Amino acid sequence: MLKKGLSVAFALMTLLFLVVACNNQEPKDRNTNSAPTSEKNGQDMKEEPEEEDVTLPETTLHKTDQGESVQSLQEILNKVGYSLTVDGEFNAMTTWAITDFQMQQEGMDVSGIYNKATKEALRKSLENESSIEPASGLAKPDNDKSTVSNPHEILALVNKEHALPADFVPRNLVKPDVRFPFTGSVPKMQMRQVAADALEEMFQAGDNAGIDLFAQSGYRSYDRQDAIFASNVAQHGEKVANTFSARPGESEHQSGLTMDVTSPDIGYELTVEFGETDEGKWVQQHAAEYGFIIRYPKGKKKITKYQYEPWHLRYVGQDAAKEIMQKGLTLEEYLGVK
Ligand code: DAL
Ligand code: ZN
Repeated sequence: MLKKGLSVAFALMTLLFLVVACNNQEPKDRNTNSAPTSEKNGQDMKEEPEEEDVTLPETTLHKTDQGESVQSLQEILNKVGYSLTVDGEFNAMTTWAITDFQMQQEGMDVSGIYNKATKEALRKSLENESSIEPASGLAKPDNDKSTVSNPHEILALVNKEHALPADFVPRNLVKPDVRFPFTGSVPKMQMRQVAADALEEMFQAGDNAGIDLFAQSGYRSYDRQDAIFASNVAQHGEKVANTFSARPGESEHQSGLTMDVTSPDIGYELTVEFGETDEGKWVQQHAAEYGFIIRYPKGKKKITKYQYEPWHLRYVGQDAAKEIMQKGLTLEEYLGVK
């Protein structure tokens, strides 16, 4: 009797096993785009939570970009320790996370832009070859819009509403190997490495095109801008002075991403006539190819709050520069701030 009972139980279990095994023959993953899950040869059919496969985006990404690759990037940044909202918008928080991450990588250029080097470092972090601690490179941005909380990013907006901290000094200031209308070695010859490299390339291209560009004024410290503004106020009065000269903290020159350029035809001055020289016209047409924009374009004073300055070049990187110059935008418009 016991024997008979056992063999009935055995038969029932065999039947149950077959039903379960048949159900498991259904493909687990109906999404043909996904990588196949590991094969288990029908030995252990227990459901395991599947690791979602997020791949590092191949393309360069920066502030204002949107879409699936930004979403993947945000998911990956969260995997290495950040807590970003995964919304596919390369916003201030994503820029902060990239900048903070870059600041924790030895020898890495800090730009706030997701590029090849950042991708490689993130890949290593994911594989646990290196670890990072969120906010140990750069403090999280606060809500105070009047201060630039991420002055390291290439697309940082510096204007009358967004001032750089008084103690901000860019990393990697170097003297670009270009012509200046004076000799010696002074701080205003400097730019951030990334902008200096781009300026050298632009000058080389200008030489090849037969124009005679000169660099006049690059990096200025907060204190130096304070002195310049005070002198302009003494000469022109505060209101007029502030149409062409920035208050300390509000000058892009402090970012190390700006260079004023000029030419012999206008006596190396920084005047609107520069826009009519061969050099000025060439710069208007080609600066974006090297990542520079004319930051205070003609007819945009309402937005920039400064007069037309055809000589003031700001480095923003090639992608942004091309769009800004082709569409005739200001940085404010490009960033959606105005
Ligand atoms: N000339 C620009 C506005 C500056 O002073 O930074
Ligand atoms: Zn300038």
